[in-house]
Amino acid sequence: MQPSDTLDTILPLRPRRPESLLQVLRDIQEIHNHIPAGIDLAVADALDVPLARVRGVIGFYSFLSSEPQGRYRLLFSDNITDRMLGNQDLLQTLCGKLWLEPGKLSEDGLVSVDTTSCTGMCDQGPAMLANGRAITRLSHHRINEIAELVRSQTPVADWPVEFFRVDDQIRQSGPLLDCGPMAGEALEAALDRSPDGVIEQLNLSGLRGRGGAGFPTGRKWAACKEASADTRYVVCNADEGEPGTFKDRVLLTRHADLLFEGMTVCGLTVGAKLGFLYLRGEYRYLLEPLQQLLDKRRQAGLLGVNIRGQAGADFDIVIHLGAGAYVCGEESALIESLEGKRGIPRNRPPFPVTHGYLQKPTVVNNVETFCAAALVTLHGGDWFKGHGTAQSTGSKLLSVSGDCARPGIYEYPFGITVRQVLTDCGAANTLAVQVGGPSGTCIGPHEFDRRLCFEDLATAGAFMIFDDTRDMFEVAHNFTDFFAHESCGFCTPCRVGTSMLKGIMAKVAAGHGTRHELDEVEQLDKVLQQSAHCGLGHTACNPTLDMLKRFRPAFERRLKSLNFQPDFDLDGALARARAMTGRDDAGAHLRTEEA
Ligand SMILES: Cc1cc2nc3c(=O)[nH]c(=O)nc-3n(C[C@H](O)[C@H](O)[C@H](O)COP(=O)(O)O)c2cc1C
Ligand code: SF4
Repeated sequence: MQPSDTLDTILPLRPRRPESLLQVLRDIQEIHNHIPAGIDLAVADALDVPLARVRGVIGFYSFLSSEPQGRYRLLFSDNITDRMLGNQDLLQTLCGKLWLEPGKLSEDGLVSVDTTSCTGMCDQGPAMLANGRAITRLSHHRINEIAELVRSQTPVADWPVEFFRVDDQIRQSGPLLDCGPMAGEALEAALDRSPDGVIEQLNLSGLRGRGGAGFPTGRKWAACKEASADTRYVVCNADEGEPGTFKDRVLLTRHADLLFEGMTVCGLTVGAKLGFLYLRGEYRYLLEPLQQLLDKRRQAGLLGVNIRGQAGADFDIVIHLGAGAYVCGEESALIESLEGKRGIPRNRPPFPVTHGYLQKPTVVNNVETFCAAALVTLHGGDWFKGHGTAQSTGSKLLSVSGDCARPGIYEYPFGITVRQVLTDCGAANTLAVQVGGPSGTCIGPHEFDRRLCFEDLATAGAFMIFDDTRDMFEVAHNFTDFFAHESCGFCTPCRVGTSMLKGIMAKVAAGHGTRHELDEVEQLDKVLQQSAHCGLGHTACNPTLDMLKRFRPAFERRLKSLNFQPDFDLDGALARARAMTGRDDAGAHLRTEEA
């Protein structure tokens, strides 16, 4: 399609409002594999937004590009679990076969190969995105096939379907995963109970948000309902960007009915007429099935106007796709992104419950939270709190990956021990578990009797396992690169701090580190804790500090010296002068031994 025809095709499918900007740019990127020159101006005119904003949005999201990326854009998922499964070697092999350098477009303009942050396929990696479509279980054999398909210029749509197989890998189920299709039962219960009755049951249930922070869901819905406004919104956070987390992917595949039921219950309870599902760009392959399901629910009277025949019970759901930015999982950044802007977190307060989407009261909940809320509405709060612990009621889905025989999804009552999970998934000789992803907590063997719950180890669901063959320095190194890459750059402490942290780890990895660098991490953490604008900056030093505390020898054995060493090798730089003057005595060298 010619760039000039693109907008004629795309624009009629979207509301002509500034909020459509990101979705329109995504559509253009999907057609041309980049945003062709000049089209940005036409988009700005059509959506009535400044050109600077269009360019700002293109520059912000990693899946958008104003430069041509080739007809094939191949992005290797670069989580630590992908690395443990050999993604680096596979990337080099593919680049070798296609005669190109990582990160660069091939000379014929056909293909580019690069890395991207975790794609949410850690239980079936190594993974990559081929023009945005997830490919799992990469092997040398599959890489050879991919190289052949690119060389023969076979469209990605015609690549073998087996490449794109994503399995649910549910290993252990509980009340949530065992629940059958939901075709209005929770909605019926919600209409019977009345909005206040639903909130009462949520409060009774003790349900807390599953996205990480654990805020009580009943209180959030009540605050939104009570906020004075003419319009309210419901937003489902399906951004799932925390490396090592993939449980929302499985819920969206298997239990989307339950999710939509939970969102609709929320809409009817707080008085919202419209909800958004913010689906991470990496899960683009789920878009069509989810849209089909929404249509089915509309036809069945479970969405739209007069839901289940009740006058005034109106609610509908629209899906928005993300475009590769981890920070958009933060709820206020997500709302900015829904409004078609760069995903920069807002100042809080005010919180989204009073000033959310378009400054209107908005409930933002995680996928799993909406599913649990639907079950609470159906079965009641007492039933729900029959599982779990006093402060952490109900069950929790874990995304288990790394060194174990059975990676996948496990549902447990809150309060389960780390040791039990390790036994169930067939982990042996475990050295460490990273609970809750890079922004969570790393624990060693003497802590495996700790419990997964808000009272002890809080987690949004990631559970990454490392056995005793792993180098925990490499794990920390991967996580610091992740934070530096994903920092949105809005505030100086995080923008500079995460890149300093990355520099420190690179220096230690290169064998030039000293104890001074390790001490610096603590100083950086203090600065970030006090002055970063959002949770990304606050948690960026967590993994390095955790691993330093528990696995210090893995860091110290890489140090050149325990004392300070400059980044710049002055003695090396003088080598030429020594050669020219013919001097190589001790006086012509810097002193390199330790003082
Ligand atoms: C950097 C960052 C990334 C986040 N990513 C996610 C995410 O991918 N999914 C999610 O549900 N919550 C994420 N959160 C938490 C959200 O800000 C918010 O607390 C959550 O969506 C609220 O839903 P809940 O109450 O159901 O947990 C993230 C927070 C931060 C600071
Ligand atoms: S802390 Fe980092 S991610 Fe958060 S707003 Fe600041 S720069 Fe952006």
